[in-house]
Amino acid sequence: MDAIHIRGGNALFGETKIQGSKNAALPVMAAALLIEDVCMIENCPRISDVHHMQELLESIGCKVRHTNSTMTIDARNISQDTVAGENVKGMRSSITLLGAMLGRVGEATMDYPGGCVIGERPIDIHLNALRRMGVAIYEKEGSFTARAKNLEGAVISFPTSSVGATENVILAAVMAKGVTVLQNAAKEPEIVALCEFLREAGAVIEGIGGPVLIIQGGHKLHGICYRIPADRIVAGTYLMSVLGAGGHIFLEGAPIAQMRSMLRIAEDIGAEITISREGINVIAQEHKRAVPYVKTEVYPGFPTDMQSPLMSALTTAHGVSVLEETIFEDRFHIVEQLKKMGAHIEQKGRRQAVIRGVESLLGCEVTAQELRGGAALVIAGAMALGETIVRNRHFIERGYEDICRDYRNLGVNIYTA
Ligand code: EPU
Repeated sequence: MDAIHIRGGNALFGETKIQGSKNAALPVMAAALLIEDVCMIENCPRISDVHHMQELLESIGCKVRHTNSTMTIDARNISQDTVAGENVKGMRSSITLLGAMLGRVGEATMDYPGGCVIGERPIDIHLNALRRMGVAIYEKEGSFTARAKNLEGAVISFPTSSVGATENVILAAVMAKGVTVLQNAAKEPEIVALCEFLREAGAVIEGIGGPVLIIQGGHKLHGICYRIPADRIVAGTYLMSVLGAGGHIFLEGAPIAQMRSMLRIAEDIGAEITISREGINVIAQEHKRAVPYVKTEVYPGFPTDMQSPLMSALTTAHGVSVLEETIFEDRFHIVEQLKKMGAHIEQKGRRQAVIRGVESLLGCEVTAQELRGGAALVIAGAMALGETIVRNRHFIERGYEDICRDYRNLGVNIYTA
């Protein structure tokens, strides 16, 4: 139970449609809380993180329906100012409800979202930025109350780029009095999606997609219908799979413009990439080249969420590859698992891994410890000779609607058990 079985070792052929983006859907769902009206969110992925966010919104009084891929959120009547429960502790993105609650009711009591296996993941940048907007924070053991009598626009310069902190301040700023200027704002496509959603709902935001956002607060927001963009990380997962296993696949609806850094690396490894309006066509050779050095970076650099999937693909590349993780301090948990499959990887400290390509991986039982690492183990399973069993499937289900369905579309023998 809670496992994925893969009989790997064959090249991938076929096409698969890319689901809606988890990291765009979650803050957009939080943003719907700001709107005293009904919003429709199309292409909303059916994944457990979205389901948990739905439960949190419902616990605050929203009426939420998720039918097929459309979610309807009716936030006309909010009943609570406490965001609590296991879903908060277990899901980092529950923190975006802080900005949304402050924007909507001026107060929120929340459990701390907690650290996770990829790193400490503090929320100091979120809290310090909100303090500048007039928010007082009262900390208790394991939880805190944030309160703003008058939420006010401010000039906020982030010390480092943070996706979640940028989202939280945007959510508070659209409801604040006056203008908020965000400097060193995160530029990830998921921030763009959040800003576009809010702008269509009536918010005034300038500089979308850049490092400086200017938000005029206080405009009345109204219900809209918004379509979540395709998930660049899910598309990248299947891209890395075909690089690893070889073959010819088509990624239907992949968000090409958001994937430039991944596509450059795919070409360096030796894949032939053709893009069209419909998606990305990838022809990958069985014999692939190592990449001398790749480091993870904020957008538009190579994403940290793709670091583990790339590592799996490189385990059988010809030569030596070096991967450096610059965003999270503890994101190499799959190294030991890949070594069990025969990979040759030397970890240097917590930030660097040196991968010497081997002839092939061998299937065995491995354990997922977090979402993207789990997906990377499925990639390794598709590449490996024999059977691989990936334990802890629930981590993967946080972000992938049906990873087995998608791999079966690409001809992989894979099932859950
Ligand atoms: N950081 C702090 N203090 C803060 C906030 C962040 O020190 O108050 C540090 C973090 O510890 C990290 C760095 O700043 O070292 C960047 O973290 P960021 O805040 O940008 O990450 P996040 O908002 O927690 C989102 C995604 C992650 C993705 C990162 C980086 C969501 C729900 N999560 O996390 O996605 O890796 O941005 O792009 O959007 C995933 O989908 O598997 C995932 C982990």
